[in-house]
Amino acid sequence: MVTVSEAIVECRTSKKSLSKEVPQALIYELLEKACFAPFHKREPWQAKIITTDEEKEFLYNEVIKRYEENGIIHDEASREKMTKKMTNLLKNAPATILFAREIIPENPRLDSDSIQATAALIQNFSLLAYEVGLVGFWVSSKFVMDQELAKRLGFPENYELIANYRLGYPDPEVKKNKAKRTDVKTWATPLL
Ligand SMILES: Cc1cc2nc3c(=O)[nH]c(=O)nc-3n(C[C@H](O)[C@H](O)[C@H](O)COP(=O)(O)O)c2cc1C
Repeated sequence: MVTVSEAIVECRTSKKSLSKEVPQALIYELLEKACFAPFHKREPWQAKIITTDEEKEFLYNEVIKRYEENGIIHDEASREKMTKKMTNLLKNAPATILFAREIIPENPRLDSDSIQATAALIQNFSLLAYEVGLVGFWVSSKFVMDQELAKRLGFPENYELIANYRLGYPDPEVKKNKAKRTDVKTWATPLL
């Protein structure tokens, strides 16, 4: 069993994986633990789990439709680029979890807390996935923060997507990312 320190330091982003299915029940188990992330006043997160071909097709079509409506797809070149990118990200993913958060416009502090708490949940989810031998890719694609898309995907009106999470089993052929981080003393300094 990996320690928390090992998971944090060794869990790396992986944009590719085997195509092996990730059971929906396992994703639920991970989310059930991940939601012990801290929050302020109320749990601000919601998620949609995409594992079946029908769900992948539905998500892909809705994203492409929105890209057409908002001009991200505006000619043949942009269509080719975005359909290829989204096929790879959404249709070829063994599993996708869409994370959304409550928008609280009347209270900027709670609105910020809502993003922070949902990000904490997502990081918990990453570490728990690593613990059971999965690899993930946390990505803020062009379709996140699109409230209309979130609504069409079944989230409540006052929610927006903040992350697309691609989940799969590691492909032994894919080299693990080398983690690079700025030396702590350059960004954490004594106040005085
Ligand atoms: C909030 C967030 C948004 C991200 N969005 C993107 C993205 O749009 N495209 C991308 O290639 N990677 C994205 N990433 C992945 C990061 O690029 C990756 O985590 C970073 O390079 C660190 O890699 P590591 O986790 O292997 O150390 C995102 C990560 C986070 C946390």
